[in-house]
Amino acid sequence: MDRIGFAVVGAGVIGQVHAKNVSMLESCKLVAVADQVRKRAELVGQKFGAKAYTSIDEVVKDPEVEAVVIATPSYLHAPQTLYALQYGKHVLVEKPMATTLRGARLISESAKNAGLRLGVVFQERYLETVRQLKELVSDGGLGKVYLIEAELKWWRGESDYYRSDEIARSWRGYWETEGGGVLMNQAIHTLDLVLWLGGEVEEVSGYISNASHPSVEVEDVATAAIRFRSGALGTISATVNIRPTNRQYRKIRVLGTNGFAEIHDLSLRISTEEGEVQVDGSGVVFGDLHRALLADFADCIRGEREFPVNGDEGIKSLELVKAIYLSSERGVKVSLPLRWGDGLL
Ligand SMILES: NC(=O)c1ccc[n+]([C@@H]2O[C@H](COP(=O)([O-])OP(=O)(O)OC[C@H]3O[C@@H](n4cnc5c(N)ncnc54)[C@H](O)[C@@H]3O)[C@@H](O)[C@H]2O)c1
Repeated sequence: MDRIGFAVVGAGVIGQVHAKNVSMLESCKLVAVADQVRKRAELVGQKFGAKAYTSIDEVVKDPEVEAVVIATPSYLHAPQTLYALQYGKHVLVEKPMATTLRGARLISESAKNAGLRLGVVFQERYLETVRQLKELVSDGGLGKVYLIEAELKWWRGESDYYRSDEIARSWRGYWETEGGGVLMNQAIHTLDLVLWLGGEVEEVSGYISNASHPSVEVEDVATAAIRFRSGALGTISATVNIRPTNRQYRKIRVLGTNGFAEIHDLSLRISTEEGEVQVDGSGVVFGDLHRALLADFADCIRGEREFPVNGDEGIKSLELVKAIYLSSERGVKVSLPLRWGDGLL
């Protein structure tokens, strides 16, 4: 099979993971790496035997490039995706797929109209334990789901993350460029899973705050109460303030009339009337899931199958984040779907 020519735009933390993954996959070939910082593009390009560019313009005009991974700061995702789509490239875009709902809807529709693949990097959907939980819920193994609780307690410091160097200082922690804080950047993966498990949300009520990042505009702590269209309820609490910093964790607990199941970091525990099952997921290392998602995306480019984490799927968690922001700002419950007239879109 001929390999799919990929380019990675943005050679930072996650762009380097994507470049490595593309070069590891049989079905793909890393054609180019682009970064506004020439040295970064050259270093990563050299490491994986790919061309080095300094702009997306060079990427989209390269006939060897069939698909583009957008791994730049979040506010660039929608315009760069749109640009690449116009040149006939398939796009795998990092989360959040856009910092505005308008941008997300625009690129999702544009990809559909052009008959091109658009994927969003929600790699946790490829975690085996999460898949088992999804199957359990879908098959009714927990009975009727009535409550989903999600907790993300992570650490992101000012000196080691938000303001670590001139590139971090150029986009992290501002509404305009990161689009939000812990919800928009870190917890959005968890929200994606909550929605995957719980289905559509009807109404949300939320609060956001900044407790300990004075140089950062966006929220570092958030809570929300959710009512799903199914009638189930949900809660979310997320922060990047956890101390001690080595005690970070993430949990998603699904409670049904026949028992409950919990993802704790990478592992799964199921407790039902039939007994207790523990599935260890700790063998997965950072990058493995991104590679599984990328392999599936490549498979969909070559085949007929729709990529499961497409634009429509990517919009859902973004919309929930926006609804929580809207609820917090206005002090009201917010109904979904959000309409064009709603603020903060
Ligand atoms: N899915 C995941 O697990 C995951 C993990 C980390 C980050 N992300 C997402 O990936 C994106 C990038 O995050 P990061 O941590 O790698 O950021 P980063 O700051 O480390 O890297 C961004 C890179 O983009 C480059 N860049 C900026 N503007 C550019 C432009 N116009 N053209 C080309 N290159 C440009 C920067 O020079 C930098 O090298 C963010 O949207 C983030 O939310 C996803």
